[in-house]
Amino acid sequence: MIILDTKKDFKKHINLLKSKGERISLVPTMGNLHDGHLSLVKIAKQNSSKVITTIFINPLQFGKDEDFASYPRTINEDISKLKKLKCNILFVPKNQNEVFNNIDNLEHLKAGPKGSILCGKIRPGHFDGVLKVVYVLFQLTQPDFSVFGLKDFQQLYLINQMAKKYFPKLKIICAPTIRNKNGLALSSRNSYLDKKSIKIAPLFYKILLDGINNLKISKNVEETIKYITANLEKNKFLVNYVSFLTTELEKLNSNTSKRKILLSSVKLGQTRLIDNIEFS
Ligand code: PAJ
Repeated sequence: MIILDTKKDFKKHINLLKSKGERISLVPTMGNLHDGHLSLVKIAKQNSSKVITTIFINPLQFGKDEDFASYPRTINEDISKLKKLKCNILFVPKNQNEVFNNIDNLEHLKAGPKGSILCGKIRPGHFDGVLKVVYVLFQLTQPDFSVFGLKDFQQLYLINQMAKKYFPKLKIICAPTIRNKNGLALSSRNSYLDKKSIKIAPLFYKILLDGINNLKISKNVEETIKYITANLEKNKFLVNYVSFLTTELEKLNSNTSKRKILLSSVKLGQTRLIDNIEFS
């Protein structure tokens, strides 16, 4: 695996791959890689001849009081995991200037109304920051494919919209959520959970699944949201949001034929968990 930390070297390698006609997949991450991230790399491998993973903790997507400084950094372990999977190139920008040298040029990248609901409401500006970094990585890499996790459904949706507009040839691949054996979606932030919280956390997914069953019987969205919220609160989760939408992030009508999704974010102690489940 080739490891690069400057934009100049990265660009040089990309040009080389392009000149050889390689099909490139890009997997952007913030590191502290777990099996969820690694599943994206595996999917990327199946779809292309060369896989590029990036590790960059993007300051633009963290709020003032968020965990940018304490976000887990485990670069040596990450490198071993990627080597094992035979990832071809790892780009770890050595500083922010290797990614953002003229941020004003990115000001047109706004997540818009669908970036201001759900996680965008509790983290103002978060998705603008995500779109900016992903746009720069797409521009630098010009990949044929890029893989993102369904676990961060709203992020995936917004990146897909941005890609359609600015990178029409790029295919965004959606990867299923990888969970631990108790159902908890893997996340780098799970490492913040203390012993007691680790035991409670899997209830999040179970309560959401139970909520979907409840909706199928009651057919009442508002009542089901109250039911799920009460169940979460009973188990010490602080609810940020619980929302039933279409997979276009639009309001759900009782007789919609569109695909449906339950999205939720909670806090357990100081740790934010997000999950979502598509259902029919
Ligand atoms: P990060 O949280 O490191 O996640 C990188 C990718 O891994 C995202 O596409 C995310 O959806 C996916 N992922 C995380 N947990 C997963 C799981 N349990 N199963 C499957 N996929 C999972 O998301 C980001 O970084 C950043 O916002 C980024 C897109 C890199 C921009 O900075």
